[in-house]
Amino acid sequence: MRVLLTGSSGWLGRHLAPMLREAGHGVTGLDVAPGQETQEIGSVADRGVVDAVFARHGIEAVIHAGALHKPDIARFPRQAFVDVNVTGTLNLLEAAAAAGHDRFVFTSTTSLMITQTIRDETAEAAVWLDEESGPLEPRNIYGATKLAAEHLCRLFAADTPLACLVLRTARFFPEEDDTDRRLPGPNRKANEFLNRRLTVEDAARAHVLALEKAPALGFDCFVLSAPTPLRREEAAELKRDAPTVIARHFPDAPALYARAGWSLPPSIGRVYDASRAERVLGFRCATDYAAVLGALRDGCAMPFAHDADYASPVLAGRPR
Ligand SMILES: NC(=O)c1ccc[n+]([C@@H]2O[C@H](COP(=O)([O-])OP(=O)(O)OC[C@H]3O[C@@H](n4cnc5c(N)ncnc54)[C@H](O)[C@@H]3O)[C@@H](O)[C@H]2O)c1
Repeated sequence: MRVLLTGSSGWLGRHLAPMLREAGHGVTGLDVAPGQETQEIGSVADRGVVDAVFARHGIEAVIHAGALHKPDIARFPRQAFVDVNVTGTLNLLEAAAAAGHDRFVFTSTTSLMITQTIRDETAEAAVWLDEESGPLEPRNIYGATKLAAEHLCRLFAADTPLACLVLRTARFFPEEDDTDRRLPGPNRKANEFLNRRLTVEDAARAHVLALEKAPALGFDCFVLSAPTPLRREEAAELKRDAPTVIARHFPDAPALYARAGWSLPPSIGRVYDASRAERVLGFRCATDYAAVLGALRDGCAMPFAHDADYASPVLAGRPR
């Protein structure tokens, strides 16, 4: 298919475009910032840009990964989030429906499931989060606009023949956490494979599969994260004493961590459950926490990217 990939200069986009080509698709990248996978520079917030790109490239399906996201909160006003994440999504859906497309894949975020209370981790047990979790009360403009965009996808799937799959993706960014730097980056990322991270390659693979499966599924929403080894019955213990739970699942983890000079998480307050994606979409991340421990054991490179200096290309994009 001739696929429009938005956000093609970004971290996900630059990994996803080659995979789409390998799967036999033609890919047109649209981004506000230049990049190797970007053929069209422009904003999804501009309907004229979207229509022109559709017409020039005979677009048959859209993967909408372009967005302002969490780190952009410090860089852009709220209105820009509404323009890009909400109006931009609406523009693409309108154009796709008008062109008679049968599928649309939207990159969403697990962040929209995190209320302030969940983030504060004041509960006595870890919170399990899946597609049924709610009420959804995003704690910032990023989550609020992504949730609005998810609802637009749902409405278009209900009102038009456009099947829409929403991929609520956990973290895969390569840079340091923008709010919590208590642990060195690779140690922190390794820990997150227990409960709330996946590799960018797995995120990209899920999008390729979603594009294929969308027409058969209609509207659906999937949490994407590395499969957790943790169990719901362990929720209270995870909050109280995560290292004991981790050592029960992976007896050599404490020694491997000690050898690397790393720390296990003292407490885990939330776990993303990606099992529905496995059951319904047929997608399971290839890289999980066991793979991370395997790399530690074998002294190999970690199976995930860490780039403390990564900066979103959006900063090089046109002023909006
Ligand atoms: N990075 C993560 O950990 C993470 C986690 C969950 C969800 N996501 C989602 O994944 C998607 C990709 O994020 P990423 O990590 O690759 O971020 P990124 O910042 O590297 O890439 C996003 C891209 O979108 C582009 N963009 C911004 N405004 C645009 C506009 N108006 N029109 C066209 N393009 C525009 C940016 O220039 C950038 O290249 C986003 O939708 C994000 O919300 C990311």
